[in-house]
Amino acid sequence: MAKSPQFTCSACGAKTNKWSGRCDSCGEWNTIVEEKPLSAGPSKKSLGNVRGKTIPLSDLATRETPPPRTQSGLGELDRVLGGGLVEASAILVGGDPGIGKSTLLLQASGEFARKGLKTIYISGEEASAQVRMRAERLGLTDAPVQLATETNLRDILTTLEAEKPQLAIIDSIQTMWADNVDSAPGSVSQVRAAAHELTTFAKRMGVSVILVGHVTKEGQIAGPRVVEHMVDTVLYFEGERGHQFRILRAVKNRFGPAAEIGVFEMTGGGLAEVLNPSALFLSERGEPSPGSVVFAGIEGTRPVLVEFQALVAPSPHSQPRRTVVGWDSGRLAMILAVLESRCGIPFAGLDVYLNVAGGMKVNEPAADLAVAAALLSAREDASLPADTVVFGEISLSGALRNVGQTENRLKEAQKLGFTKAIAPKGGKPVDVKGLEQSRMADLTAFVGEIFGAG
Ligand code: TYD
Ligand code: MG
Repeated sequence: MAKSPQFTCSACGAKTNKWSGRCDSCGEWNTIVEEKPLSAGPSKKSLGNVRGKTIPLSDLATRETPPPRTQSGLGELDRVLGGGLVEASAILVGGDPGIGKSTLLLQASGEFARKGLKTIYISGEEASAQVRMRAERLGLTDAPVQLATETNLRDILTTLEAEKPQLAIIDSIQTMWADNVDSAPGSVSQVRAAAHELTTFAKRMGVSVILVGHVTKEGQIAGPRVVEHMVDTVLYFEGERGHQFRILRAVKNRFGPAAEIGVFEMTGGGLAEVLNPSALFLSERGEPSPGSVVFAGIEGTRPVLVEFQALVAPSPHSQPRRTVVGWDSGRLAMILAVLESRCGIPFAGLDVYLNVAGGMKVNEPAADLAVAAALLSAREDASLPADTVVFGEISLSGALRNVGQTENRLKEAQKLGFTKAIAPKGGKPVDVKGLEQSRMADLTAFVGEIFGAG
């Protein structure tokens, strides 16, 4: 009897026996893909009936030596990787088309090759001449990187197996074509098959593999999440088109802290490291103006100062607008609700726009107070005193909650010339020379002190 085809949702893993445009289980669109049954053979027998080999077991106290790492010398990249490139690791670098992934990885491959790693760069997107032109622009022509343009995965794996490099860069995973899967390159099944082949190859041969992945409009690497599960490390390269700086963010790292960021600037000669991100993010800040507030944040292991900007204006719409860039819209709604019900400051009938300057994305709840300050400052048309930084989490009761790494935040502010910090009361007091601290217990006290209301 012919087997009916099996379909799987690539987002949630639900199985069905017919294709549909939308998954019944998770509601995602265009995620149903056909699963090819594994080829017939001994593997069809139940695993319990055919003996495998026994695997060695060890106790929890066994000390493993840390995996060997190689540093590229690009400090921002090495930090995001957790201190350098780990041998035989599989890394995914995702980002919007045109953001600079190929530039970053060509630079990285040049630096790793100069450090003595045998490096192969495979481009499925650009002709060799194009890659060489870019290498010239980046000053890498003398770096001993081996280059190929190819999309046939079988040929690529055969070549890598023969060449035995220590690092292989595949740009991009969406262009790779595995001839044992009948669907077009870029489709979910192709991306998944190619990523699976390459990550298992990395482990089997002890080669570090970096996969480049384009992100779809919905913000996912095509072949949703499946690729992320297969690799050790997932890095996202982010930035705004109009701005020259780029952020490399670790969203998953088996070999280092997640949420670490590296900051780069796109220049005519490629990506340059930004050693003092706070100074860069605040560089376009003019005179203090209503709605502008500097937040003392933490990204990964580093303090980073960023500017929140708010605009509040009477709304011509029956449903006022709430527009947020770089911050969570649900969290904005929560802060507006707390301001309204705990401090009696309504935002009904007002459009609210909130933006993190320079295209930075902030995820910390510690930015709550900075957001509230920006909203109030915009609404009251009153600027916060110059040279002030703000941080603290706001609870639904309107209380200010202490946040982690207070000392690092304060020191960074002081280092950048700020003289005043507004922060929650809790936690142990920290003295930072030259920085006056206003520690407050709740939002009402904050509103009273800063805006003379509430
Ligand atoms: P690219 O690395 O091709 O992006 P991706 O691989 O993510 O699609 O980057 C392309 C952009 O970077 C392009 O708009 C030109 C710009 N760029 C520079 O500004 N300076 C440079 O030295 C290089 C190589 C590129
Ligand atoms: Mg590219």
